Amino acid sequence: MNTNYTDDLRLAHIMADTVDRLTLTKFNAHDFTVETKPDLTPVTDADREAEQLIRSQLSRVRTRDSVLGEEFGSTGTSPRQWVIDPIDGTKNFVRGVPVWATLIALLEHGKPVVGVVSAPALQRRWWAAEGTGAYTGRSLAKAKRISVSAVNRLEDSSFSYSSLSGWKELGLRDSFIDLTDQVWRTRAYGDFWSYCMVAEGSVDFAAEPELNLHDMAALVPIIKEAGGSFTSLAGVEGPHGGNALASNGKLHQEVLNYLGTEKTMG
Ligand code: IPD
Ligand code: CA
Ligand code: CA
Ligand code: CA
Repeated sequence: MNTNYTDDLRLAHIMADTVDRLTLTKFNAHDFTVETKPDLTPVTDADREAEQLIRSQLSRVRTRDSVLGEEFGSTGTSPRQWVIDPIDGTKNFVRGVPVWATLIALLEHGKPVVGVVSAPALQRRWWAAEGTGAYTGRSLAKAKRISVSAVNRLEDSSFSYSSLSGWKELGLRDSFIDLTDQVWRTRAYGDFWSYCMVAEGSVDFAAEPELNLHDMAALVPIIKEAGGSFTSLAGVEGPHGGNALASNGKLHQEVLNYLGTEKTMG
């Protein structure tokens, strides 16, 4: 494997294995409590315990690295930063929908170089490290290489997103509806799922107007190593600017032109 990050990728898989056991047990037994955050989104004890589990492993074996997680914020300062979304898709998790995942990324000087997305209720995992290609499988040993689609016409393309509300808030509701008119089909697979589908070529592009670093960091190496592009809606290399467009690369500029967001958000 041609990468400087082999040990970090292995560690991310080991941490994902540990967290999967915790989250899947709680999900299957519906054994968790739900609270509402100040932004009115749900959070469970499973989100918090999953992040703590990853943090405690990192504090033992990566003592110098800094950590940023959705539920417990930022600790330490280092050019090497682990970025964690303990459960991406908490709304699905609390409703018993199996489309949720733990996202673990390593950034070096702000650039995501390792990403692991583990979705135990779907029995799926996706990962990449800089220079390795992108893979899916149950474990590192059982990996299948993945790549983005070859679709190069908007009218033949499949587009996935999470929810319409963010598009409305950014004044992009009409562009969004126009875009869905242009494509072959639109699906709201949502959350990490849209982006992993782009990486494995089942969806041609995914976009989201409101995302945080922890939502995007693990997805960036997976999309790029699968041969795709990941930018903000302003067209700046991602993760950047609190929003995202991930594509097979061939449709990227056409979608940006269509949305007009390079001019309005750039
Ligand atoms: C959410 C998902 C969703 C995005 C929201 C996020 P969470 O993450 O990533 O796709 O639209 O903005 O908050 O809270 O389920 O980790
Ligand atoms: Ca959340
Ligand atoms: Ca998230
Ligand atoms: Ca989360």
